[in-house]
Amino acid sequence: MELVVSRIEPVVDEVIEIVLAATDGGPLPQWNPGAHLELVTPVGAVRQYSLCGPRDAVCEWRIAVLREPEGRGGSESLHTRLEPHQRVTVRGPRNNFRMLPAAGYRFVASGIGITPILPMIEHCEETGVPWSLDYIVRERGRAAYLDRLPERGVTLHITSEHGRPDLDAIAFGDGTGRRLYACGSTSLLVGLEEAARRVDAGPLHAEWFAPRPVVAAADARDEFEVAFNRSGVSAVVQAADSIVDAASRVGVDIPVSCSQGVCGSCETSLLGGVVDHRDSVLTDTERSEGLVMMPCVSRARSDTLVLDA
Ligand code: FES
Repeated sequence: MELVVSRIEPVVDEVIEIVLAATDGGPLPQWNPGAHLELVTPVGAVRQYSLCGPRDAVCEWRIAVLREPEGRGGSESLHTRLEPHQRVTVRGPRNNFRMLPAAGYRFVASGIGITPILPMIEHCEETGVPWSLDYIVRERGRAAYLDRLPERGVTLHITSEHGRPDLDAIAFGDGTGRRLYACGSTSLLVGLEEAARRVDAGPLHAEWFAPRPVVAAADARDEFEVAFNRSGVSAVVQAADSIVDAASRVGVDIPVSCSQGVCGSCETSLLGGVVDHRDSVLTDTERSEGLVMMPCVSRARSDTLVLDA
């Protein structure tokens, strides 16, 4: 859909907030905490940004963008080329980071990873559900949205002053078994996953900005066949192919955006076979249920997969 940029405001050093509205100024579709938008940037690259609320502002969507001069140009172009009143193309909202029901939540955010966590905390405040936040930043001046966070419940970790915090202690929390949600750098999420395992903190619900490091399953097939059930065709997936590539060769169009296993756009129902999941979206529970897969990166542990495509 096409939206108009109504405001661009600085948040902290290198972070801007972009406020988007419908072209007729009317209400936008509702969304839940954890949702993200796909935005076509001025250089044409599509990027995903979490909606950071507030959710009761029904006629606008807000995203925050960190300038990444060493990145691939998408965020840089939003900082340097986007202006109020311009129109932009967005898709979504889509939510791969839903808040599952819980008696309480422990949130961990580093840097711009605060953006999906912010509406989650606001939801907890509205519904009276207990929460805590460990917020990790390099310097105090880089802690976006501190002014929207209640002081109670927030522990700010400033790494330039105190080094990296103890992730085992963060993962363990107060030992009451609240659900653990995190968003931030790959190193934080990998470290927190390992810490959560060490201290038996239960599953980590994480939103990855970049693909998580993947180790192929020991029984992953180099080459396998995929049957596209709805289209009535099959394709062989070679070692250098993705399933999406092989699908397109036989005329089956699977919608993709990131092609890196982080956005969830290509999610496809699985009707048969065993998947080697290599995405950064599905939870362990969703993987073991075996109902869906991300064919842009995932592969097969059986000779054949059957997909609903
Ligand atoms: Fe983004 Fe597959 S296209 S997860």
